[in-house]
Amino acid sequence: MYRLQGRTALVTGSSRGIGRAIAFALGRAGAKVLFHGASDSPALRDAVAAARAEGIDAEPRVADLGDAAACDRLAEDCADADVLILNASVQSYGHVEEFDDAEFERMVRTNLRSSFALVRSFAPRMAARGWGRIVSIGSVNQAHPAPRLAIYGAVKAAQRNLMLTAAKEWAARGVTVNTVAPGVIATDRNAKVLSDAAFADPLRETIPAKRFGTPEDCAGIVLALCSDACSYVTGADIPVDGGMSL
Ligand SMILES: NC(=O)c1ccc[n+]([C@@H]2O[C@H](COP(=O)([O-])OP(=O)(O)OC[C@H]3O[C@@H](n4cnc5c(N)ncnc54)[C@H](OP(=O)(O)O)[C@@H]3O)[C@@H](O)[C@H]2O)c1
Repeated sequence: MYRLQGRTALVTGSSRGIGRAIAFALGRAGAKVLFHGASDSPALRDAVAAARAEGIDAEPRVADLGDAAACDRLAEDCADADVLILNASVQSYGHVEEFDDAEFERMVRTNLRSSFALVRSFAPRMAARGWGRIVSIGSVNQAHPAPRLAIYGAVKAAQRNLMLTAAKEWAARGVTVNTVAPGVIATDRNAKVLSDAAFADPLRETIPAKRFGTPEDCAGIVLALCSDACSYVTGADIPVDGGMSL
């Protein structure tokens, strides 16, 4: 039920962090995995090499999703993928009045426009084949705004809404579209702030599970959503946050 033999998955932002853990979970379930990063980095090469060492059929893909043309080329290059994980994102901190238009546009282009363009490209092809899986990695911040993350939270909320529309549009043609919303997951992105005990300790106390998550904590539910076990699950929004959003 949870096997993905014969499927090909593109996982954006899988050179590191949550995307890497998801890519390994899908690969271990039998999928061919297209690992992706913004650049041809040592991290991307290491992820692909480690996956191949496990016997996973893995290939690298490079595209800066903030570059619309590069994003569209990625979509063409991965056209036969049956599984699309929208994981890559950029995140920047500031009070509303500190952000300029350029930063707003960068975050919208990199996080939201790329997701829109990839769904627009992939979903019709999946529907034509009668089977497809799209999982967007959202955030607790899509529904619970955090201070100094105004653009990030707004863009995650928009992405969640986009997934709802896509779920409705393709449900009858074998394509499911779901969101997984992590809480605080220890990755490169927040390594610096989480190493500050004065910040991290009170934050940990707000989480009913009393710990931060790991990238692997996010991978199992994504695998389930991508498998035949979840054929009848679409439009869902599943928190992976140790109860933080309760
Ligand atoms: N960590 C958390 O606590 C947390 C909480 C809620 C939601 N999330 C969401 O979970 C997802 C993964 O987060 P993470 O913490 O694992 O992130 P991360 O460790 O910062 O890794 C980010 C990944 O995205 C890629 N990426 C960054 N900018 C890109 C660009 N312009 N074009 C293409 N790829 C780009 C990176 O590629 P390179 O290696 O090439 O830079 C990397 O693979 C994100 O959508 C994030 O918003 C994370």
